Amino acid sequence: MKKSHIVEKLLGDLSRYTPSNKAVTAYAPTNIALVKYWGKRNQELNLPMTSSLSVSLTDKGATTTLSVSAIAQDVFVLNGKPVPTTSVFYQRLLCYLDLFRPFKTFYFNVDIVSTVPIAAGLASSACGFAAMALALDKFFSWQLSSQQLSMLARLGSGSACRSIWPGFVEWHAGEREDGMDSYAEPLSVQWPELCIGLMIVSDKEKTIGSREAMQRTIETSELYKSWPQKVAHDLVILKKAIQEKDFDLLGKTAESNALAMHATMLSAWPPVSYYLPETISAMHRVWQARAEGVPVYFTQDAGPNLKLLFVDKDRARRYFPEIAVMQA
Ligand code: PMV
Repeated sequence: MKKSHIVEKLLGDLSRYTPSNKAVTAYAPTNIALVKYWGKRNQELNLPMTSSLSVSLTDKGATTTLSVSAIAQDVFVLNGKPVPTTSVFYQRLLCYLDLFRPFKTFYFNVDIVSTVPIAAGLASSACGFAAMALALDKFFSWQLSSQQLSMLARLGSGSACRSIWPGFVEWHAGEREDGMDSYAEPLSVQWPELCIGLMIVSDKEKTIGSREAMQRTIETSELYKSWPQKVAHDLVILKKAIQEKDFDLLGKTAESNALAMHATMLSAWPPVSYYLPETISAMHRVWQARAEGVPVYFTQDAGPNLKLLFVDKDRARRYFPEIAVMQA
């Protein structure tokens, strides 16, 4: 099944919609998964093998402004600079936007302002595609529900479906082949004291993208067979931890889940490792801090940097003065 079929299911006849004659703007936060999404059951539609649960970072995200281009060409600008037409990012954006104008009757002017620290391994595609889905909804006056917008964002990037909301968000894996039951929903609990500290150990380009790494893991890792069970278990525990505001339980579950995800990659062939020597040192510093009684945990995505989890900002900063603290 093609992405365009899903767009048709969600929107019906696209010719019913005309683009706005004014510029429209939308914001979406980036999100950090505490129970990870690792592995697709459908690569075209970004349908996951398992459910996942994230927390959005209130003030780190993307603001996207859409208008009809004044020239006969799409113009994409990121943080004030034109996106080169030859870049992967340009092509990805173009493919996505083409889904919504089958006959290319107009060109897009897209202006993205991102507050996500560049090259820090924070999901910039998550907030990027979520902000885009929200902006498109205004641009064409679709008036879609958040659930539908979540599915639309997912077609751009899997984890983007969680960035439609602030706070804690669960992405239901769903079972349907067309993915119409695979969307994210917010949890009703707020936990404003929860902080994420970004610990950058390297700003180099990652050696392998998450799409390829996931696929290789599914195809070759023995350990991946136990991943769905691990996720199912961790989701139950994490939701309990959030409900009861049990920080140690949240931290332990998130850290253990991230380590298990990386273990599935290490057991793939050829092995996938996002670990640098500095990543391991950083982990040891976190474990040392905990041994000294500081409640701090980490999580790690498809990159070498760690995201520290804590509730006591001052104490965490004393141990890790270099981190950038972000509010959940
Ligand atoms: O949505 P993608 O293709 O960027 O994949 C994200 C995967 C992880 O960040 C590693 C985990 C997650 O759930 O966000």
